Amino acid sequence: MKFKTVFVCQKCGFEAAKWAGKCPDCGEWNSLVEEVKQQESKKAPTRTRSFTDFSSEIVKLSESKAVKEPRIETHIGEFDRLLGGGLVKGQLTLLAGAPGIGKSTLMLQVAAELSKNLKVLYISGEESIGQISGRAQRLGINGDNIFLHCETDIQKIVESVQNVSPDVLILDSIQTVYHPEFTSSAGTVAQVRECTSELVRLCKPKGIITFVLGHVTKDGELAGPKILEHMVDCVLYFDTEKDNVLRLLRPHKNRFGSTGEIGLFKMTGHGLESVENASEYFAQTSRQHALKGRAYSLALEGSRPILTEVQALVSPTRYPFPRRVATGVDLNRCLMLFAALEKHINLPLDNKDIFVSLAGGVKLKDPALDLAVCAAVISSCKEIALPHDSVFMAEVGILGQVAKVPLIERRLDEAQRLGFKKAYAAAVTKTEKQKLSKMTLLELADLNDLALKLC
Ligand SMILES: Nc1ncnc2c1ncn2[C@@H]1O[C@H](COP(=O)(O)OP(=O)(O)O)[C@@H](O)[C@H]1O
Ligand SMILES: [Mg+2]
Ligand SMILES: [Zn+2]
Repeated sequence: MKFKTVFVCQKCGFEAAKWAGKCPDCGEWNSLVEEVKQQESKKAPTRTRSFTDFSSEIVKLSESKAVKEPRIETHIGEFDRLLGGGLVKGQLTLLAGAPGIGKSTLMLQVAAELSKNLKVLYISGEESIGQISGRAQRLGINGDNIFLHCETDIQKIVESVQNVSPDVLILDSIQTVYHPEFTSSAGTVAQVRECTSELVRLCKPKGIITFVLGHVTKDGELAGPKILEHMVDCVLYFDTEKDNVLRLLRPHKNRFGSTGEIGLFKMTGHGLESVENASEYFAQTSRQHALKGRAYSLALEGSRPILTEVQALVSPTRYPFPRRVATGVDLNRCLMLFAALEKHINLPLDNKDIFVSLAGGVKLKDPALDLAVCAAVISSCKEIALPHDSVFMAEVGILGQVAKVPLIERRLDEAQRLGFKKAYAAAVTKTEKQKLSKMTLLELADLNDLALKLC
């Protein structure tokens, strides 16, 4: 067998003959790593290169039959919701996240639920049988139908799948497995690509539900090639704020459902618990007392409105340059809102430090938070407490104008359910108004309206 060395970008999988500081394909710096590439010898049996065995006659779409895939529920509420109702036979899911975030924990819990009806094979290249069983004990899982195997050689993993013939396969993690025919070390592009395609070829035709776990780098990118994301049906990212017990699971790609949903979990000693009532979790200060600098809003995560508590602190600065700090919301968006407040309602912010934060350690991007940020800043700056039975939800533009946000009815319904009485929002049409809940809607055209109503 002939060997040839190539330089492979660890981010995108681009192959170059010579080393370069910057990947010519994806532009990443310092990502090219020398790998030995095997020339395929002519005698070696050719393996199929395709991932799926789809091959059909040509038919008209109108004459083709739709297949509704039955969903296999894990009975972990947030996980099922996020997947679009459950798992589909043969589904290959990549679960990525930083070390220690709870990937193995979640998978063991999923395995426990699925093993009630299905046979599960859990392969670990990260932990020993003893460690896994220790975790299972802590989580209260007995796992009669869960088979454990500690292995990193993909060929042995394939054998073990053929021997056990499971319905569900969990591989923890893709970065630890290697293909013995490839000389590069585990975790490199060549290995990750080859091992994943081996799994796809093995599991897809058998309809095995497969989970592949993967690490992410410090920047939150998948360690290993992006091509991994193309090879799987579903990519889930596990995410959290630092030192927070809350875990967010976000779909990055989902062939069988929407990617707009998130799953919320709380890490406890007994494993991950679904947080179904997100609103009550995020609003942290007591609503009975009026607080200066606090405004409530209902932000959407996917299609779900979540009660969000925006906190602002405006205080005289001691530095030549005032400080502007935003936690949980986009700082640039906040800077724009501060400028709009100064310009349009003459709010004196130029020699003030401003801190804006979302309670509960969430990060949200919903523009509906704009109005709540403005209200909280006005409240802190002018030392007036906002009415504690009110929510603020509208987008604010650079001209100070207040604009509508999508799904206002759903947000108002949730606000009403949580006991709020009034909502500050952009003007709605008459027909829209008829559909709205019984809450009092205070319609605003611009920031001036807001200032007039609050002060
Ligand atoms: N005895 C324990 N009590 C409570 N939480 C624990 C305990 N042991 C581990 N954990 C939690 O589990 C996390 C590790 O989860 P794990 O599933 O191993 O993460 P990953 O597989 O993503 O690296 C730890 O960060 C910690 O939050
Ligand atoms: Mg782990
Ligand atoms: Zn690249």
